[in-house]
Amino acid sequence: MEKSIDIRMVPEKNSEAHNKFYTEIISGLKDNPKHLLSKYFYDEKGDVFFQNIMKMPEYYLTNCELEIFTEKKEELAKAIKAYDEPFDLIELGAGDATKSSFLLDYLVKQKADFTYMPIDISGNIISILQNNLTNKIPDLQIIGLNGEYLEMLDKANKISSKRKVILFLGSNIGNMEQEEAYQFCKELKQKLNSGDILIIGFDVKKNPHTILNAYNDKTGITAAFNLNLLDRINRELDADFDIEKFQHYQTYDPMSGACRSYLISLSEQTVTIGNQEIYFKENEAIYMEVSQKYSSEEIDKMAVRTGFLPLEKISDSKKWFIDAIWQVD
Ligand SMILES: C[S@@+](CC[C@H](N)C(=O)[O-])C[C@H]1O[C@@H](n2cnc3c(N)ncnc32)[C@H](O)[C@@H]1O
Repeated sequence: MEKSIDIRMVPEKNSEAHNKFYTEIISGLKDNPKHLLSKYFYDEKGDVFFQNIMKMPEYYLTNCELEIFTEKKEELAKAIKAYDEPFDLIELGAGDATKSSFLLDYLVKQKADFTYMPIDISGNIISILQNNLTNKIPDLQIIGLNGEYLEMLDKANKISSKRKVILFLGSNIGNMEQEEAYQFCKELKQKLNSGDILIIGFDVKKNPHTILNAYNDKTGITAAFNLNLLDRINRELDADFDIEKFQHYQTYDPMSGACRSYLISLSEQTVTIGNQEIYFKENEAIYMEVSQKYSSEEIDKMAVRTGFLPLEKISDSKKWFIDAIWQVD
């Protein structure tokens, strides 16, 4: 079985997704301080930039989590009780499934009875993922869902009432402010049933230089990834950002664990988006994204405070990354 539901490579003009994109961009840029939402980084170009980020030697996160998904997949399969009964394996923000594909392959070879439902806001990556996985793992049952995390989880619940195992990897949870992450986990739990499992990836607090280097590469790939959002706004929302007039700036605060990216306006300028004008002072910043780091204790605290039962924490050999396994009581 292979099915996909409503995949949109670029939101059509006047569609709900397009109108939401416009509204959220304008409201973020008219706010003080200015901000944009990093979920919009991922279009056809943004997906390629992110795949290149994952290949950078500085971006240790991928290799650490890859080690867990290659060397500890048996442990993961056991923890998700893969053989007890049929289940849906739902991956939130699946991207190209670089890491989860190893678990999928293992589960299919072990004849576990499950359907893989990757959810992603990028229609481009869902469509690439479906083609690649169908070629790589022909016996995999896959239903791609293109849209936002929790809306698509509702859709998955409508498609099937089987037990749910949720994957939320790559430290995607770190792209939420801490309070937002708490709220998200609470809402997620409400959409699940007793016995359902969540495997959630956290980047662990470590040497601040190691963290900052991962987001501040000398090759400029992360800068291009951030700047691509301005380019995307030009392409899809009839805007006239001059990309050359913005510069990427990255910070890491070892006390709070927040690694934040900004784009700095290099001159005083006015940008037009549709019929809206946005004024920038020289050196004014647009806040783009947080990549929040957590300690092992903070991870357990989040599970308990959001109503999950923390079962296990699986780390890589450097203990730089944790995939935590939580259960709904
Ligand atoms: C940092 S990448 C990580 C991809 C994958 N989880 C991994 O570990 O390799 C984040 C992915 O989540 C998707 N994403 C971000 N915000 C989303 C949202 N609100 N709803 C659905 N997908 C989202 C992006 O399109 C992107 O593919």
